Amino acid sequence: MNNNNNNRPSRPPMTPEQRKAYEARRRAAMQRRAAEQRRIEEKRRRTVLAVITVLTVVVLVSIAAVITAKFLGDAAGKNPATYTFKIGDSREKVAYNDANRGGVLCIDVRSLKDILYLTESSSRTDAVTFTAKSGSRVVFVNGSNIAAVNGQNVSMPVAAVVEDGACSVPLETVSYIFNGISVSVGRSTVTIARNDESIEILAKSRDPLNMIIEFKSDLDKYEEYMNPQGEYRDSFLLLVNKQNPLGESYIPQNLVSLDATYCINESANQLNKYAAEAFTAMLTELWAQTENTYIIGTSGYRSYARQKILFEQNHPGITTPEQAAAQLTDTAFPGYSEHQSGLCIDLIDTRRGGVENYADTGCFTDIRTFEWLKNNAWKFGFVLRYPSDKEDVTGYEYESWHYRYVGRYHAEKMYRSGQTLDQYVASLG
Ligand code: DAL
Ligand code: ZN
Repeated sequence: MNNNNNNRPSRPPMTPEQRKAYEARRRAAMQRRAAEQRRIEEKRRRTVLAVITVLTVVVLVSIAAVITAKFLGDAAGKNPATYTFKIGDSREKVAYNDANRGGVLCIDVRSLKDILYLTESSSRTDAVTFTAKSGSRVVFVNGSNIAAVNGQNVSMPVAAVVEDGACSVPLETVSYIFNGISVSVGRSTVTIARNDESIEILAKSRDPLNMIIEFKSDLDKYEEYMNPQGEYRDSFLLLVNKQNPLGESYIPQNLVSLDATYCINESANQLNKYAAEAFTAMLTELWAQTENTYIIGTSGYRSYARQKILFEQNHPGITTPEQAAAQLTDTAFPGYSEHQSGLCIDLIDTRRGGVENYADTGCFTDIRTFEWLKNNAWKFGFVLRYPSDKEDVTGYEYESWHYRYVGRYHAEKMYRSGQTLDQYVASLG
């Protein structure tokens, strides 16, 4: 049914003028609709553009933030801008990116010539031969990761770079093929010291002691104390035992107090300055590597008077050094204790409260900490003074807690040879 027809009066036909006007209105309306449509389209387009722009900015800012964080991170903690190479008495700064090739720390072998008495020769412009005083030699070829050590091939983690100015090879390789040096790497310092009179260039089998000393903690500032050089190197070998007393009047030079963090006992927290710094470094690294932060010092320097009090408390019936030497293997007679030298310290585990009754690990609560110290103390210049199998040599029973400072040069030799200080000093003649 057609409502239109039924309910509305039918319109009279349009005159030509009316039609013309009607068409004009219709066209105008269509144009308005089209304009409105374009306006909506334009608005949508702008919105999409704005969203894309915002997203792009967000992505770019994020990328920039990541790069900045990495850069700042490098600058603040991980990678130093430069490495300082301390070679004997010389110091050389090398840009981090020059020293570190593909994550491998490298050194210019030419910078070692003086300290290692190496001579240099070359038959090709892209290769160089270094010869030690003994005649042993190594050849590095530019671009090759093979070093020819006395005719034997040794592979290197990255290739040598042999140029006019330098012969850059991995530090690890240098440490491996040169016998008679110690290489220690701190956060921003590489220290190379000669630890033997003669230098040999050898393709040796892996020896853990010839590996680079590397610490988890930043111990650069302690290096000079852990590994004293020059006149100091041999100045900490004072032997104190039942045959070699210090006497009543001996008071060591250069005593300093350990920071309270490193020693439980305020009346026995003094040590020789070198021993104190090296001990601080050792505990810092022990805590970092074993996560056992309960190990600290308990007794460093003891004066004659203090040892006398301790001795008389423990052994009231013994009144002469001869009696003590013959009968005692735990406490030294006053004037005969190494503690009077300021060069040794007893450790304690603050969870156990004492240093007795721990047959295997001594004062240590866990074997890992104990083993770590036994195997690493030499890197800090310390030796276990009274080992379990040396009671007949030292005159004292096993003391897992008593560490003696001698400096790394000597500590390494003693650790390597298994000699006590008594035996080592005797071997020096
Ligand atoms: N316990 C060590 C030997 C000392 O008394 O010096
Ligand atoms: Zn002791």
